[in-house]
Amino acid sequence: MRILSGIQPSAKLHIGNYFGAMRQHLELQTENDSFYFIADYHAMTSSPQPDELRANSLDVAADYIALGLDIDKTVFWRQSDVPEVTELAWILSCITPMGLLQRCTSYKDKIAQGLSPSHGLFAYPVLQAADILIYNSDLVPVGADQKQHIEVTRDIAVRFNNRFGEILTVPKEYIIESVAVVPGIDGQKMSKSYNNTIEIFEPEKQLTKKVLRIVTDSTPLEEPKDPEKCNVFALLKLVAAPDELTEWDQKYRGGGLGYGTVKKRLAELLIEYFKPYRQKRAELENNLDFVEQVLRNGAERASAVARQTLGKVRSAVGLGG
Ligand code: ADP
Ligand code: TRP
Repeated sequence: MRILSGIQPSAKLHIGNYFGAMRQHLELQTENDSFYFIADYHAMTSSPQPDELRANSLDVAADYIALGLDIDKTVFWRQSDVPEVTELAWILSCITPMGLLQRCTSYKDKIAQGLSPSHGLFAYPVLQAADILIYNSDLVPVGADQKQHIEVTRDIAVRFNNRFGEILTVPKEYIIESVAVVPGIDGQKMSKSYNNTIEIFEPEKQLTKKVLRIVTDSTPLEEPKDPEKCNVFALLKLVAAPDELTEWDQKYRGGGLGYGTVKKRLAELLIEYFKPYRQKRAELENNLDFVEQVLRNGAERASAVARQTLGKVRSAVGLGG
């Protein structure tokens, strides 16, 4: 089963990205023929500075490798190193009805977040369809927010095949059963757009400081508290062992618990959780040439598949000699 997913390198990765997507990507790689890439063309839609885009791509790649991406088994590359995908995106654009894209909610959502309304941002789902289709993907693990884009991809693939013959593999989405939405330190969804993230490899002291700043309600110390309404508890669920979680649950409900105490424990647990990967991440930071090499090797393997699909598509639609 070919499984494919991409992640945008628009900022340093945070624990919402990890628990909501990366962890599942990493688990899925063992049993599948996995293709994962750094979606730097997509990240251009948020108008990054050139240096920032280049550095973030390597940063995100280093995070994935440090967290356990199997560089021998999984094909792992930077999207823009296989530019054939943009040609397929153009070809697909020409059979994609405007209405299909106008119905996509992510364009409006992103404008509401302050992104510029560019044509790239509007056409982004077509590039995503090209990513998926050029690599003959069967399954696409994504968060619920991306479900609509996979439906668009399926629609485009079926249209193409009806018109030009059965060339493209129609993918299925694989919605990641995420641990609900991970809240940020202000209680909204953790997102790089909201400046409320805890980064996976944040320096330990800084991480602790951020955890201590997590917004809580003003229930007095002695009164019982509802853990299910608490941002600190929501994060604790991700990293605490079940027995410990039950204990905290009882302490919340029993009263007499200060949020400071739980926050300190949460910071310790987060640091402990990612500790095994920190050393590797630090080594990679000092050896970004290695990361670059991994991406280039991945691009060679990816581009062999991309060229084949694109060759068939070009010939079917009447391009070239
Ligand atoms: P951001 O909101 O920080 O821009 P992205 O949209 O780039 O994050 O998301 C990348 C992946 O991480 C997606 O699959 C998304 O579902 C997942 N993800 C992002 N934020 C969260 C969160 N707070 N909780 C759960 N999953 C998340
Ligand atoms: N749009 C995805 C996101 O923002 C990233 C992405 C780009 C992607 N191309 C893809 C995901 C192809 C899955 C398949 O999270």
